[in-house]
Amino acid sequence: MGVVLNIENGKREAASIKDLIDLTSADMGRVNKLILSKAGSDVEMIPEIANHLISSGGKRLRPMLTLASAQMFGYSGEGHVKLATSVEFMHTATLLHDDVVDESGMRRGKKTARMIWGNQASVLVGDFLLGQAFRMMVDVGSLEALDILSSAASIIAEGEVMQLAAAKNLETTEDEHFAVIKAKTAALFSAAAEVGPVIAQATRNDRAALRSYGMNLGLAFQLIDDALDYGGTSKDLGKNVGDDFREGKVTLPVILAYRRGTKAERTFWKRAIEDNFTDDAGLEKAIGLMTRHGAIADTIGRAGHFGEIARDALAPLEATPQKSALIDVIDFCISRVN
Ligand code: IPE
Ligand code: IPE
Ligand code: MG
Ligand code: MG
Repeated sequence: MGVVLNIENGKREAASIKDLIDLTSADMGRVNKLILSKAGSDVEMIPEIANHLISSGGKRLRPMLTLASAQMFGYSGEGHVKLATSVEFMHTATLLHDDVVDESGMRRGKKTARMIWGNQASVLVGDFLLGQAFRMMVDVGSLEALDILSSAASIIAEGEVMQLAAAKNLETTEDEHFAVIKAKTAALFSAAAEVGPVIAQATRNDRAALRSYGMNLGLAFQLIDDALDYGGTSKDLGKNVGDDFREGKVTLPVILAYRRGTKAERTFWKRAIEDNFTDDAGLEKAIGLMTRHGAIADTIGRAGHFGEIARDALAPLEATPQKSALIDVIDFCISRVN
């Protein structure tokens, strides 16, 4: 189902996070150990459910941002490993909760925790992981980092609630949609990137640069995710293509196709999104209309725009291997297929 995105060009084909992975591999080894130990509990169901999701991997992009951004400013303590683990736990908790909200069946190539253990257990284990994340932040002892990450936790929840409130509303404007994705996704990227310079006691300007980089990278990341939900493959994504459509989620490809459509096309969208006529034929038709109106291509174009802002945010910083790895992440996010 769906068409495979062809968004590579000469420059982006080479986009890879290999340098980021190499630079952070020793620290990530410690993060992964800490993840396993902090997911432990005497209450057996907790590690069982947490490890189901944790052991299926994930890109671990957000903790690598924290590690690289701390290294970039010469940080030499232990705190960045704990903060990176906290960031990944916040992300994992969000995914457990999000799959309940979205009634999703597949995540990271496996059945979602909610399909195996149910919604209640998924929500509660998500809460446990959030609690563990905050304990680790307290352990680090940086009130500023705690402030940034706890604010992000509230903002993510606000974003998810905003999205719920806007569900099935085809009149959602692009601006309103950006406010949602800024909160539900970009806020964590931004916090993950900012806490590095914060614990490294870098300057205000350096912190602002990393915060802005993370925010715009996160916006680009989510826009590509929304494009992939129509133009990717389930095999690559590890989650079901067309989930957003079946759920009646109003993401940017839908917003653009609806706005640019004819009256008859808008009737199709209303029937699909508002009245749940979202079978496979409907999905094929939706993808056809998106293609006709350039809705997927323009979603990717918008992502490219935010990617450029992220790149310019880092531009004034001294050239370091970490800076260049973080710039590669932008191209990776824009050309990613999973
Ligand atoms: C999924 O994030 C949630 C979104 C913000 C779209 P990732 O695609 O980073 O998830 P994993 O951790 O790699 O599975
Ligand atoms: C991802 O949101 C979860 C958050 C960022 C809170 P989505 O619902 O858009 O992403 P997927 O498709 O489930 O990964
Ligand atoms: Mg979801
Ligand atoms: Mg969601």
